[in-house]
Amino acid sequence: MFTADTMNGKTILITGGGSGLGLAMAKGLCRAGADIVICGRTLEKLEKASIEIGEQRKDALVKFYSVDVRDHEQVDQMFNSIKNEIGSLDGLINNAGGNFLSASEDLSPGGFKAIVDIVLHGTFNCTHAFGNYLIEKKQAGSILNIVTTYAEHGSAFVLPSACAKAGVLAMTKSLAYEWAEYSIRVNAIAPGPFPTKGAWARLVPDSMLEKMMIKQNPSKRLGDHQELANLAVFLMSDLAPYITGESVVIDGGESLKAGQFNFVTDMMSRKKLKMAFKAMKPKK
Ligand code: HXC
Repeated sequence: MFTADTMNGKTILITGGGSGLGLAMAKGLCRAGADIVICGRTLEKLEKASIEIGEQRKDALVKFYSVDVRDHEQVDQMFNSIKNEIGSLDGLINNAGGNFLSASEDLSPGGFKAIVDIVLHGTFNCTHAFGNYLIEKKQAGSILNIVTTYAEHGSAFVLPSACAKAGVLAMTKSLAYEWAEYSIRVNAIAPGPFPTKGAWARLVPDSMLEKMMIKQNPSKRLGDHQELANLAVFLMSDLAPYITGESVVIDGGESLKAGQFNFVTDMMSRKKLKMAFKAMKPKK
């Protein structure tokens, strides 16, 4: 679907691009021709990741900045450096996240704030700085926010993340409308279970949980990073110029569990179900 020209001439900033899904998207975009900027908190991680990204394409420009997206001054400084050192930026992927499992009654205000600061305020800080950059330059651009499937319907035991991601989804739709007149597209991806070291250490700490996650997914498997990267490339590229304000779910069907009769697939095999349906069919 993509060639090395798909993202040719575009420079994309990926927050939290030093590991996990951010790194997978950075590599995918680089292979499709983009120059890449990543930012994150840990310098060593960024250094190692930028080498891996650079290996994807011989002539790629890859830069990294050590930035905590919670701090709007650090974010503004990064955008000034990008302007001075690179000169152009066409896209932003707000991927940096934070999450942990907790009963909501046991959360501390500090724990709630830590997640909302990274996810919601971090996304705002980067989006606000990038939006102003584009508007000032009268340049078109694309923003992609990584949310979750539970941004729509909430989830037990990840309350701060659910609240923050719901806010990011609202930001996606609000800005898609407001900034369409500046030719700035704003979309989201809502990934289901894509295993990464960071998320799995905090959210899927034992193999039993992972097995249950796979069992209750109608596709009976976890997501592959490349599948997410492909979607990100498509949404960031000029293949999708009329798509804005959209949140695309990529979860193998996991979030469709609520369909009223979907539960019967957990009760018996397809063969037994067919026999039961046949027995229920009225006879002429
Ligand atoms: C309860 C916790 C906690 C835990 C931290 N806190 N971990 N509370 N259970 N497991 C509380 C602390 O007690 C503290 O509250 C406050 O949170 C801040 O913690 P710090 O460690 O001081 O903060 P910081 O060093 O900034 O770390 C932020 C973090 C950390 C979010 C807590 O986990 C982190 O850096 N995460 C980044 C990577 C990450 O989380 N990746 C997974 C993303 S997955 P007090 O009250 O003491 O101040 C994702 C996808 C979702 O988002 C979809 C999945 C399917």
